Amino acid sequence: MRAVAVQEIGGPERLEVLDLAVPVPGPGEVLVRVEAAGVNEVDTMFREGYLDGGARPLIMGSDFSGVVEALGPDADGLAPGDEVYGYKLLGNGTYAEYVTVRADWVARKPATITHAEAAALPCVGLTAYQAVVDELDVRAGETVLVTGAAGGVGTVAVQLAADRGARVVGTASARNETYVRDLGAEDFVDYTAGDWVDAVRAVHPAGVDAALTAIGGETKRRAPGALRDGGRLVWISGDDKAGPPMERFIAGSYRGGMPDRDTLRALAGLVDEGRLRVALQEVYALEDAKAAQLEVVGGHVRGKLVIGVGEHATARPATAHAEEVGR
Ligand SMILES: NC(=O)c1ccc[n+]([C@@H]2O[C@H](COP(=O)([O-])OP(=O)(O)OC[C@H]3O[C@@H](n4cnc5c(N)ncnc54)[C@H](OP(=O)(O)O)[C@@H]3O)[C@@H](O)[C@H]2O)c1
Repeated sequence: MRAVAVQEIGGPERLEVLDLAVPVPGPGEVLVRVEAAGVNEVDTMFREGYLDGGARPLIMGSDFSGVVEALGPDADGLAPGDEVYGYKLLGNGTYAEYVTVRADWVARKPATITHAEAAALPCVGLTAYQAVVDELDVRAGETVLVTGAAGGVGTVAVQLAADRGARVVGTASARNETYVRDLGAEDFVDYTAGDWVDAVRAVHPAGVDAALTAIGGETKRRAPGALRDGGRLVWISGDDKAGPPMERFIAGSYRGGMPDRDTLRALAGLVDEGRLRVALQEVYALEDAKAAQLEVVGGHVRGKLVIGVGEHATARPATAHAEEVGR
């Protein structure tokens, strides 16, 4: 099978399209014929060795959408031919024509969207859901801040919080204002136009009830300043799991998105009910995985990037999106 992998950890120049053996599903695993693979920053962390993916060559990728090809022993709940999506951490990855994955990390893909769209959802959808619903437990009438609102996680988080009846304030640069408001954010703050914490406070003088900061570094460090006393904060950025300094009483925690069939089912249900939409910035060809990873680490993707692997996920030239997003 064709797969994008690295023989040794390192920079994006190490990415190669290799001809590798189709993996064999072990106990509790399924073999999936991949139609499309999502591109996430975590992929680059495995490539660079910050996270240990184990195998060599190491096939990139954790998000996938495709079709169940075969079941390993004791793999339950799925059958060959099922259209599925999921999030696979560790081992052989998803930028490949086939991947093996634990059956309980897989669910039926949303029926109303394409494989390319479904491949854009697992990592960011699981992370946003586990942060907004499980951890922050956002309630109707609350005020919720999402930093990085136009990115992969932010796009889902804004919609989930708004769907639960919260009033959402999203941050991004001005070119993304319409996009973020269309997701359901009533308030928008351009983080490039002055002090963004002051701008949030101008809308919510007492501070917001809850916040998900998808942006790390200085943005995470300053996020507590936007919260009310007793507010709740979740950070997800992979740059540093340590929390920001808390000068007042604020409940804060790091959340890493974990593969989970029930949450994938919940996300698929929201998509099929028209309550959650997926935004694709671009579909890359397998050969263009390096360009896709470079775009992701650039930090200004709107929505998601995916790699089209199978015949049903058509790749467009990498130049197409640049015209669409005006860059
Ligand atoms: N813990 C986990 O399991 C997990 C899972 C997924 C992601 N992550 C991490 O979470 C972070 C976000 O991931 P993602 O995929 O959502 O990111 P992303 O898609 O790369 O986010 C890019 C978006 O962020 C906006 N942005 C950039 N700098 C900003 C700033 N200072 N303030 C506000 N918005 C800003 C950009 O908008 P403009 O172009 O308008 O600036 C762009 O639309 C990454 O560090 C990623 O590694 C962690």
